[in-house]
Amino acid sequence: MQTLDTQNLNTINFDCTTPLFPLGSLSFKLKSLNPMSHAKSLVSDLIDFIDNSPSPWHAVSSTVALLEADGFEQLEESEAWQLAEKGRYYVVRDQSSLIAFINGATSPTEAGFRIIGAHSDSPGLRVKPHPISEKGGWLRVGVEVYGGPILATFADRDLSLAGRVSINSGEAVTDIESRLIKFDHPLLRLPNLAIHLNREVNEKGLKFNRQQELPLIFSLADNDNPKNNPRVLQQLLADVLELDFEQILGWELAIYDTQKGAFWGKDELFFANSQLDNLASCHAALMALLHNLEHDPDATQVIAFFDHEEVGSESEKGADGSFLGDILKRICITQGLSTEHYLRALSQSTLMSADMAHAWHPNFADKHDAEHRPMINSGPVLKINSNQRYTTQANTEALFVKLCQQQAIPYQKFINRTDLSCGSTIGPLTASKLGLSSFDVGNPMWSMHSIRESAGVLDHEYMLKLMRAFLLS
Ligand code: CO
Repeated sequence: MQTLDTQNLNTINFDCTTPLFPLGSLSFKLKSLNPMSHAKSLVSDLIDFIDNSPSPWHAVSSTVALLEADGFEQLEESEAWQLAEKGRYYVVRDQSSLIAFINGATSPTEAGFRIIGAHSDSPGLRVKPHPISEKGGWLRVGVEVYGGPILATFADRDLSLAGRVSINSGEAVTDIESRLIKFDHPLLRLPNLAIHLNREVNEKGLKFNRQQELPLIFSLADNDNPKNNPRVLQQLLADVLELDFEQILGWELAIYDTQKGAFWGKDELFFANSQLDNLASCHAALMALLHNLEHDPDATQVIAFFDHEEVGSESEKGADGSFLGDILKRICITQGLSTEHYLRALSQSTLMSADMAHAWHPNFADKHDAEHRPMINSGPVLKINSNQRYTTQANTEALFVKLCQQQAIPYQKFINRTDLSCGSTIGPLTASKLGLSSFDVGNPMWSMHSIRESAGVLDHEYMLKLMRAFLLS
């Protein structure tokens, strides 16, 4: 993690006229002199964070590493808690949802919680339990579609596998261990059909039948020992994890793109990577918490990353589950507070639900309401929807505006075209479950749910400043 200036939240460090960084070692020396370097080094950290987090299980693991480096202590839900004044803690539920918090200087009953919520998962493809199918001498890996990815973007990419494997680690039925696994090299591919065999692809779009046409090419079949073919992926996992084949009892494996994130554009004002929705929001929230360590606000600062947003949030660790409420309640109980104190704390708390926003695209100009066009590199987007697909109310809208004005960061307001149905996110579920005052924000991005998404370099730093100020409010 690179250190940012935590002294002055009000400093703006960018200049659109900044020239492209020179290449090679010279760029390193000049970086600190460059007014853009602050925003850019923050995005470099984000790119590293995503490249190290090809699955939600890895994203939580990456988050834990950064929290522990700054002295956060893990709490187990199964154990009794003793929390120190102004203590830093985190809780993980089933490896892919995480809540971290810093106790405030004042009791939650007096000062409430400042909570930033985001999601740790991204849409994509997940490996089936019996994945290997043989066809015409080829072995393919069968996949389920997780959430709503743009499937065509998975074609012709250097794909690989990352996730977690559950293994038999002892005699008792409960002796089960979970291991993270990530293959760095491209292991799988979804080759496009040649245009000569799909003449209308440019007119009709690239479509895949999910059952027949999505299995990923993996290997040649072993014709000498055909009974080995169905075992080949599990055997590979066992070999890499140095286990016996039979020890592997279950897995959740995501398909990911091995291409690393990159800056792009004439002045490198943009960057591309997978999973910007929503690891960019997770990273901004995490950095905001870590860069607030020297401050001592009254309110308890909380960041909450939930798995399963892309499939509806209805799970034991999703935003529609009990996780956040359980943890907030335990923070109060541990301080000797009653249920009434807890409910009083909630009534004084605010949630910032952070998920990426749809930037206006000049090639598809009519897809946005003409008066509500979020622009890349023009600041955080406040999402508003009177049908409550987003949680923003007039009072939390005003809070957002005041925070942006105080921090001198640009901001934008978004409302969907009236004739298009609106997406949603964790905000409405979390706010309604706990009765929290809330607003929905996100940074503008292109290509949401593509395997290669894009966003603006300046916006990440703007979001960091907004989140820091919100947590300290
Ligand atoms: Co999202």
